[in-house]
Amino acid sequence: MKVTVVGAGAVGASCAEYIAIKDFASEVVLIDIKEGFAEGKAMDLMQTASLNGFDTKITGTTNDYSKTAGSDVAVITSGIPRKPGMTREELISTNAGIVKGVAESLIKASPNVIIIVVSNPMDTMAYLTHKATGLPKNRIIGMGGALDSARFKYRLAEALDAPISDVDGMVIGGHSDTGMIPLTRLATRNSVPVSQFINAERMEEVKQETKVGGATLTKLLGTSAWYAPGAAVSAMVQAIATDAKKMFPCSCMLDGEYGLSDICIGVPAILGANGIESIVEIALTEEENAEMISSADAVRKTNDLL
Ligand code: LAC
Repeated sequence: MKVTVVGAGAVGASCAEYIAIKDFASEVVLIDIKEGFAEGKAMDLMQTASLNGFDTKITGTTNDYSKTAGSDVAVITSGIPRKPGMTREELISTNAGIVKGVAESLIKASPNVIIIVVSNPMDTMAYLTHKATGLPKNRIIGMGGALDSARFKYRLAEALDAPISDVDGMVIGGHSDTGMIPLTRLATRNSVPVSQFINAERMEEVKQETKVGGATLTKLLGTSAWYAPGAAVSAMVQAIATDAKKMFPCSCMLDGEYGLSDICIGVPAILGANGIESIVEIALTEEENAEMISSADAVRKTNDLL
């Protein structure tokens, strides 16, 4: 299993680090446009191998896509991150050109690659990657829901005063401050609906805290987060690499599912060796469905800017 990570910034490097620590890939190639940067990150990470106990070989290259040839999975993290006060949507003019160029270079070098898009505005960048490459829809996946759901579980555990391993929850919809839909109705603590433990008002707080999870960190850090985004994308890469058939909410090109078409937006999907093995349609309530429609409208507005 060869994995390419495009962009050796904080998210790309974290992703490469977590992939290596989990030790399921034979090779990770980090690629960046900044001279020597990916090479340096790769060397630094390789010097953790004997300490952290992995055999994954990490190499770095300055923009030489021939080094990425034969990749099974590629992660696109390229582009600028948001600064405090910015929305993900404001990054489109800079990131669209970058992501398009990267996607085209990736498939030239690795015609069979499965691409995971992380760059923001993520749902629109996944859509753009589909349009630019024409790859079948199972081979382009946007990373958003896995991260947003991890943030949801963090907030649920906090509200319930429970260990995170006790709680489960999922976020669907667009990966934006207003578009995310934390499915509070389906959240559980060991199969028991969380509504048994916290009241509706506290649940609403959890929902709102989850939706602005990225913005809260951007304000604290001065730039966008990297540990949880890196961990979320590495978990998706692992599911594909090991053909785990694991369910993640992620941005998928829809063709009628959830009543939506020609849009990439977060829905539960089964990830395995073919990328998106299938999309899982869950019955939404009227209210959740209305949230999905309004989330899709917002994603389409950003898509229109392309
Ligand atoms: C975040 C970025 C990766 O939510 O979108 O932290």
